[in-house]
Amino acid sequence: MAKMAFSFHSKPLVLQFMLLILFLLGTRLHAVEPPSLTLDYYASTCPVVLETVKKEMECAVLSDPRNAALVVRLHFHDCFVQGCDGSVLLDDTITLKGEKKASNNIHSLKGFRIIDKIKNTLESDCPGIVSCADILTIAARDAVLLVGGPYWDVPLGRKDSVTASFEQANTNLPKADEGLLSIISKFLYQGLSVTDMVALAGSHTIGMARCASFRARIYGDWEATTPGYDPISESHLSNLKSVCPPIGGSDNNITAMDYVTPNLFDNSFYHLLLKGEGLLNSDQEMYSSVFGLETKELVKKYAADPIAFFQQFSDSMVKMGNITNPDSFVSGEVRRNCRFVNT
Ligand code: HEM
Repeated sequence: MAKMAFSFHSKPLVLQFMLLILFLLGTRLHAVEPPSLTLDYYASTCPVVLETVKKEMECAVLSDPRNAALVVRLHFHDCFVQGCDGSVLLDDTITLKGEKKASNNIHSLKGFRIIDKIKNTLESDCPGIVSCADILTIAARDAVLLVGGPYWDVPLGRKDSVTASFEQANTNLPKADEGLLSIISKFLYQGLSVTDMVALAGSHTIGMARCASFRARIYGDWEATTPGYDPISESHLSNLKSVCPPIGGSDNNITAMDYVTPNLFDNSFYHLLLKGEGLLNSDQEMYSSVFGLETKELVKKYAADPIAFFQQFSDSMVKMGNITNPDSFVSGEVRRNCRFVNT
């Protein structure tokens, strides 16, 4: 019998609601108002920009399809910290503490060299014109498209920050072992809705997760969410356990989050959630948590209707890409090297 309405998270309901309210009251909501971004921002100053990013991303994804996932995640981790301002790309220096070593990023966030390579090419085509934040945003769109996902137009004109926030990278980004309400509050804080959250999490239809991110799930709640005995599901679980032993230094062993079509951007991720086979605790909660009435309906909708998923995903990516850093529009710059602020 299906064991539904299951909550993995140990925090009681009241505490989760308090966290949600505190997070919303205590912090400023980012307005996802369209900033001064336009589709033709580089039309006269760097007309080759879209073509150049596309070509570079084609090479990157052809050499390894996972590169698509790396770039999409980089863009997400950029936008949730100070807005989409390229802050995630900055290396640590004596005067600047970057975001790369924050708990959500260390040993996990990759793809920086792909962006460096695109930046180098663009610096020779149109020096000092195209921001790293814009490059990342276009590259994420191309990445999705190259592995079978939807196309959307990318508004452009972001500036690169001259700062980064290690602290925000630790607090703003959602974690695999975090409760659903807490994750929802992090999206609301950015001006994104529950619908945006469920659609954007559909990115987990591509890419890999490390054992450290799913160990608790496969040795914990997995069997409670998978309804009844299913030999394929059972053998999948034992594969996962062999990749990720309960103890021992296997934290960085990786496996695909969508084991059915790991390199294809489709709606198979939502089908896995219906079967209780979400690899990350946070993903499965969208379908199985007692707090997830709305999220569950959305999961069912995107599983049943891939076109609705693609449409919402495109809209939500534009919305996420429009999260601005008001400071960057005043004090921002176009970095010459995405890893360092200009001197
Ligand atoms: C809803 C809350 C989310 C949580 C809790 C979450 C958490 C995670 C975790 C734990 C991983 C595996 C990292 C590792 O083990 O190294 C991961 C991978 C990934 N995430 Fe998310 N994520 C969320 C939302 C998103 C969103 C909104 C996007 C993009 C729009 C995204 C894109 C990706 C991609 C593409 C990967 C695979 C990266 C790779 O192959 O290395 N995630 N996420």
